[in-house]
Amino acid sequence: MKSDSPPNSAKTFHVKSFGCQMNVYDGERMAEMLGAEGYVAAADGADADLVVLNTCHIREKAAEKVYSDIGRLKRADGSRPTIAVAGCVAQAEGAEIARRAPTVDVVVGPQAYHRLPDLLARAARGEKAVDLDMPAASKFGALPKRGAGQRPTAFLTVQEGCDKFCTYCVVPYTRGAEISRPFADLIAEARALVAGGAREITLLGQNVNAWDGEDAKGRAIGLDGLIRELAREDGLERIRYTTSHPNDMTDGLIAAHGEVDKLMPFLHLPVQAGSDRILAAMNRSHSSESYLRVIERVRAVRPDIAISGDFIVGFPGESEADFQATLDLIHQTGYAMAYSFKYSRRPGTPAATMDDQISEEVMNDRLQRLQALLNEQQQAFNEASVGSTTRLLLERKGKLDGQLIGKTPWLQSAHVIAPGLAIGDMINVRIVSAGANSVAAAALTEEVA
Ligand code: 5AD
Ligand code: SF4
Repeated sequence: MKSDSPPNSAKTFHVKSFGCQMNVYDGERMAEMLGAEGYVAAADGADADLVVLNTCHIREKAAEKVYSDIGRLKRADGSRPTIAVAGCVAQAEGAEIARRAPTVDVVVGPQAYHRLPDLLARAARGEKAVDLDMPAASKFGALPKRGAGQRPTAFLTVQEGCDKFCTYCVVPYTRGAEISRPFADLIAEARALVAGGAREITLLGQNVNAWDGEDAKGRAIGLDGLIRELAREDGLERIRYTTSHPNDMTDGLIAAHGEVDKLMPFLHLPVQAGSDRILAAMNRSHSSESYLRVIERVRAVRPDIAISGDFIVGFPGESEADFQATLDLIHQTGYAMAYSFKYSRRPGTPAATMDDQISEEVMNDRLQRLQALLNEQQQAFNEASVGSTTRLLLERKGKLDGQLIGKTPWLQSAHVIAPGLAIGDMINVRIVSAGANSVAAAALTEEVA
């Protein structure tokens, strides 16, 4: 037996997460919990005794994918692993999943996965174990404490759920109402992540900037207060947060971008569309003007900030003039990067039954034009950084020998040939060239600001 293979008795597992960073975080917590239960991570996911599919329901394509993924888990010899479906498809479709895909053993929602060991025990007794509870006491207290072996960059979920009810979106139904995790728990988890090797923490929430709580002295604070407290932690060198709603960009959070050195100059602030008529139909409760004003204010305190966003093309009723307003807003903002999607009709959401659904052809055409503009802006942003000096946090190995890949403060992927350096190192570099999705950097011996 090879020394790194698990003992014969230990069951192996593989957690596959799709969709947003919240799912990545949940996937990590499930893996840690399974580890604490005596499971061992499978070297090759295809051979695992247990496969957890941690699913995404945000668009139809993502939601349908789970069924083909389940089908693919059947092995050549006809056997299959124990299959658990977790995440937002589990929450939205529930027991229907096990009916449509009888090989599924466990269905568990995003607020109930701390009960996975119990559900697996029930499945082992031959039951179909389904748990879609959204218990009042949050799952976090029941999960094992975090520890050693963290990557240099870690996620920390501080807030979950959404009360905004944008008319196209399933999140308020799958993730439930907005809740903020308590301050003391977050400080404790951040310390554990840093002690375990993390140097950068990204605070996560569907509406992360709606986080609120009380600090150690009982004073009411918002996300900016949490960021300021975390910035005092030795060993934690970089702080990021995502995803934010424009209406929750408070004065304090904007000010923090100008005052907290560890808060990285990057803001993911989805706008979805540039037409006020469409924004109203989306129930976004902000206008293009108020969005642009937030951007202006953040840039006033942090001129170099990189702005990112999300866009939806082809929302019901979107005219060519509405779409032009989105392109105009993109021109006015200037994005460093962005995500863009064709509108996907989600059953149960108000927009699904709106008149004037847009044809696939029109959506394809608009998405192409939108992405051409966003790609141009991303390339321009990367090119503008060529020649500047900055610091990289090295995160992973690159494709070439001796190559490492890290992130700049502006979240650009930067590759560097740096013999003698290791993942987790923070290094001084000069950006030497730019591509569409990354930049090349050269290591420097002198310190940079
Ligand atoms: N169709 C297309 N895109 C959507 N998003 C959310 N719901 C839908 C939908 N029904 C996008 C939004 C959101 C991102 C996470 O996914 O842009 O910000
Ligand atoms: Fe969905 Fe809107 Fe909530 Fe974002 S703010 S999760 S798009 S409902």
